[in-house]
Amino acid sequence: MVLRSPTDSPSMTEAEFRSFQELIRSNCGLFYAPDSQYLLEKRVALRMRAVEMNSFAAYRQFLQVRGDGEKELSLLVDELTTNETYFFRERKQLRALAEEIVPELLEGNRAEGKGPVRIWSAGCSSGEEPYSIVMLCEEQGLKSGTDFHVYGSDICRPMLQKARRGIYRHSAFRETESELVTKYFEDKEGLFHLSDAIKKKVDFIHLNFLDSERTALLGTMDVILCRNVIIYFNPETKKQVINTFFEKLNSGGYLLLGHAESLINLSTDFRLCHLKNDLVYVRPIPGEGKDDLWEIAAKAAINAGDRRRGGR
Ligand SMILES: C[S@@+](CC[C@H](N)C(=O)[O-])C[C@H]1O[C@@H](n2cnc3c(N)ncnc32)[C@H](O)[C@@H]1O
Repeated sequence: MVLRSPTDSPSMTEAEFRSFQELIRSNCGLFYAPDSQYLLEKRVALRMRAVEMNSFAAYRQFLQVRGDGEKELSLLVDELTTNETYFFRERKQLRALAEEIVPELLEGNRAEGKGPVRIWSAGCSSGEEPYSIVMLCEEQGLKSGTDFHVYGSDICRPMLQKARRGIYRHSAFRETESELVTKYFEDKEGLFHLSDAIKKKVDFIHLNFLDSERTALLGTMDVILCRNVIIYFNPETKKQVINTFFEKLNSGGYLLLGHAESLINLSTDFRLCHLKNDLVYVRPIPGEGKDDLWEIAAKAAINAGDRRRGGR
């Protein structure tokens, strides 16, 4: 199918759609179901205009070309990701992290003579999540560098650039108390500049979870947050990514998913753990039992209740 003018948006043929769908799924995990074909076409067409191509088939072929095609595929993926995020999203879970998980892990690390608690915000978008973690941990009196260290990774380069700049619009603070905004940001004509002191406490890395070679370069972690990311993957990719996280976590380490996400039907390797502020997953210490089905059902019921009340 061919685009004639910049405003033209013809449909992909079914075969073209399936070919793009599979290329994208296998490259970055994002899964476009047939009822999202329109969205995929719109985003592909945007990139085609940028490179002045007007045939879906020719553009699909170009994406296979070593070098230029690979670079273009990365730009297409940037266009396809959903990057919605904001500071202190799912606050109860972040409180569980700063008030319960990090202090407990730190105590264990200290007893074993290990370094700071290593926290990975996987799929961090424009940085609001890892920066929120640093701010909340510091509010608890924990010291970045000695007590904890935060890494943020994303597949989308423009989002990582935004994260490193640390400049945000008002909408990023929909769940942030004004005292925290005043304490950590400078309002410059309606744009909020994060203080350098917080900015330098997150290491940002460009990473695709499906790229096992690059993921292997990242050391093991004590906590992995992967929130509101795997909802865009199909079950097969979700399992693959969750296995990767299992391998990257130290025994006794925590996995925090978004509140609409769970490991039901994905993995039985983790143990569900009840904290004061939340339910989270733990990579069991060898010899520890796994959770029973009752607890898994309890998490599912809580998620269902959240959705009915209009939560995530
Ligand atoms: C909706 S945002 C979630 C941001 C944040 N975790 C939160 O909950 O607010 C999802 C992010 O996952 C990233 N992402 C999607 N697929 C990815 C992959 N294969 N590897 C790494 N990051 C990915 C997207 O680029 C996007 O920024």
